[in-house]
Amino acid sequence: MDRNIIRCQDADELANRAVQQIITRQQEAIAARDRFTLVLTGGSTPEKTYRLLAQPEHATAIDWTKTIIFEGDERFVPWDDARSNYGMARRSLLDTVAIPDGRVFPIPTDTENPEEAATAYEATLRAFFAGESRPRFDLILLGLGDDGHIASLFPHYPSLAVTDRWAVASPPGTLPPPVDRITLTYPALNAGRHILFLVAGANKAEAVRDVLEGGATKENRPAVGIQPTDGTVTWLLDEAAASLLTT
Ligand code: 6PG
Repeated sequence: MDRNIIRCQDADELANRAVQQIITRQQEAIAARDRFTLVLTGGSTPEKTYRLLAQPEHATAIDWTKTIIFEGDERFVPWDDARSNYGMARRSLLDTVAIPDGRVFPIPTDTENPEEAATAYEATLRAFFAGESRPRFDLILLGLGDDGHIASLFPHYPSLAVTDRWAVASPPGTLPPPVDRITLTYPALNAGRHILFLVAGANKAEAVRDVLEGGATKENRPAVGIQPTDGTVTWLLDEAAASLLTT
């Protein structure tokens, strides 16, 4: 695993660097495979990046006709609910850029229950990556919870041990919002060619230190389990989130 840590002055610089990384990985992917498979993360941190990417000066650097969008995790709420990750992505980016129909794969949340949603999303992924043993996403964006969770893989939850599924349902974590989730699993996340963490704020500093320098395990800091078999991991940290690192 090739790991790179980039310290940013503040959240604005982090968003700018994230946009540049997305543009670069998109150019590489389209040059190599004529498509760019991008997994969006949820939460609040990425919104600044998505809004910046939607700005014409950046949006025009992306070939949206060859970009395919997925979600890393979702809250089991309607898409128009303020807590919806897909709703946030639409408001901040997807409704602004010209992505052709059928190239955005949100996690469904209109099923009877989260388990059905996870099964449906898994089927979507397996159909898209038909014939492949893993979902080789070109770029996966991830945030980091204060407790070291990524996507909706929460500390000590059974979802951490899943090896035969690409998407599963999960009960709420201990951090808000307290709603059921659907999340990609480690096998899906570690299939990524490039993983980009977007982490800002002093409330993340302990988890960042534990994951990058401490003796944490994936059980207590799930981000530790992000170890792509043949992929890169880049951490974009603002100074507040990096404040407890010793190097
Ligand atoms: C979610 C996210 C989650 C998020 C972290 C950090 O559904 O909440 O996918 O994994 O990335 O909780 O969230 P913030 O960026 O809001 O701190």
